[in-house]
Amino acid sequence: MRVDVLTIFPDYFAPLSLSLIGKARTTGLLDVGVHDLREWTHDVHRTVDDTPYGGGPGMVMRPEPWGAAFDTLLPVPPEDLDVAPVLIVPTPAGERFSQALAADLAAEQRLIFACGRYEGIDQRVLEDAATRMRVREVSLGDYVLFGGEVAVLVMLEAVVRLLPGVIGNADSLTEESHANGLLEAPLYTKPAVWRGREVPEVLRSGDHGKIAKWRRAQSLLRTAAQRPDMLASAAPETLDKHDVAT
Ligand code: ADE
Repeated sequence: MRVDVLTIFPDYFAPLSLSLIGKARTTGLLDVGVHDLREWTHDVHRTVDDTPYGGGPGMVMRPEPWGAAFDTLLPVPPEDLDVAPVLIVPTPAGERFSQALAADLAAEQRLIFACGRYEGIDQRVLEDAATRMRVREVSLGDYVLFGGEVAVLVMLEAVVRLLPGVIGNADSLTEESHANGLLEAPLYTKPAVWRGREVPEVLRSGDHGKIAKWRRAQSLLRTAAQRPDMLASAAPETLDKHDVAT
């Protein structure tokens, strides 16, 4: 997968050299380019913002540097939008990011992230980009960050760990929270007793059938307690007859 990030703070992306994302880059599973948007400015102050038309607080990102940056990253517009890169614009006004969206993005060849700052990016940038990319405005949640950089780090981590070969044991991807519409059961490791607290006996029983049943029940209880909204919107096939009985 090829990923390009446009930002006025390239230093935010130093962590992309660490840990499993760093390893995915060195092994060639992931190719990342981080670009300073100010490279596409032409004035002495390298200006990227201006006051909003119609009034209001703060500043808005001017369209010209964005347009020029996209022209550089994508010099030949794709013949078919279906195979065009996906342009992700993090914004609290976007669709909600989710594990399902991470999985969709992990299947793409090329992602471009546009990190807005200030109050946001001139809307014409997104309209113009939509003529040659599949544009998605995406929000991490119902709160406001200073800019898109941290949101991109979050989204990239969620996407990259789904790329084939990035995580050694692919089973961890099917067992974890959100993989099946429920939260994961609690986890335990050694020692069997710590500060007087015992690991649930069933997990030490070696009975895989009983363990699976216990985990399933814990998963349902935890989801009901922490995220009742997930249970309420669960597809019928998420719950089975067996769950009703326990
Ligand atoms: N930029 C500012 N706030 C954001 C949010 N909640 N999600 C994604 N990008 C953002």
